[in-house]
Amino acid sequence: MLSLSRRVAFFLLSSFMAVGCATTAASDPNYKPSRGQSGKDVIWIPTPPELVEKMLTMAKVTPQDRVFDLGSGDGIIAITAAQKFKANSVGIEFNPDMAGYARRKVAEAGMQDKVRIITGDIFKEDFSSADVITMYLLPDLNLRLRPTILKMKPGTRVVAHAFDMGEWQADDTATAAGANAFLWIVPAPVQGGWNVTLDGGKTARLNLEQTFQNVGGTMTVDGRTLPLLGARLRGEDLSFQYSGEGQSVSSFKGKVNGDRLSGTLSTDRSSQSLDGRRL
Ligand SMILES: C[S@@+](CC[C@H](N)C(=O)[O-])C[C@H]1O[C@@H](n2cnc3c(N)ncnc32)[C@H](O)[C@@H]1O
Repeated sequence: MLSLSRRVAFFLLSSFMAVGCATTAASDPNYKPSRGQSGKDVIWIPTPPELVEKMLTMAKVTPQDRVFDLGSGDGIIAITAAQKFKANSVGIEFNPDMAGYARRKVAEAGMQDKVRIITGDIFKEDFSSADVITMYLLPDLNLRLRPTILKMKPGTRVVAHAFDMGEWQADDTATAAGANAFLWIVPAPVQGGWNVTLDGGKTARLNLEQTFQNVGGTMTVDGRTLPLLGARLRGEDLSFQYSGEGQSVSSFKGKVNGDRLSGTLSTDRSSQSLDGRRL
């Protein structure tokens, strides 16, 4: 069920939606956008500056990051990411006049070296090099983008103004200027069985069940299958616990890297390295 503020935003964004773009390919140098004007898949309403800052802060944007704003409008998010967070940024905007207008805003801000505005369709352009994605679209557009986003490198941060991503629960939420923002961290794919080797060569079997960033499963060690407790996956960082012999708790903390898993397994008495390979 959409909350009232989300329903209002949904109505505003979708009610003027137009199919196709009414502009010509060349951009008009005198063009000025108007709030609520139609767009290919969603109209233009800018994100308020306070929320832009909140979204980029939630995503922990750093100067090392490349930020992509999908449907970048007048470029406010791309420009703020460069100006205030010192990141490199790219805006993808379908409307050539709007993209031209954003480029003029980028030049006015003196940010040409750090901000690029691409005239293009977010469903066709490649944004796989992003460390951070921002978007202010519509619920169904977020859902259409979700499979592409989930294939991006683990740890990619995604922040959306107003709308969520269905069953993929947000890792964090915030409010500013009376509007909501949602943050997701792209989880590493960990589903399935893993062969685990501990210090000294002892082997074990880890089975992981994954739904987005939520994980659970079992560890089979010394002939006993033990349920994982408090498993947590954030990007490529995986941690879990299981209760072994004599109620002693073993805690794993490590990283997933493709088909490899590595980290440390500790109890209150000892700690050893754990190496895993996907079955
Ligand atoms: C709600 S506005 C958000 C603008 C900006 N991201 C912000 O938060 O201020 C959505 C923008 O997406 C653009 N847009 C709509 N469909 C698009 C598509 N398929 N590809 C690229 N841009 C699109 C619209 O022209 C509009 O400028």
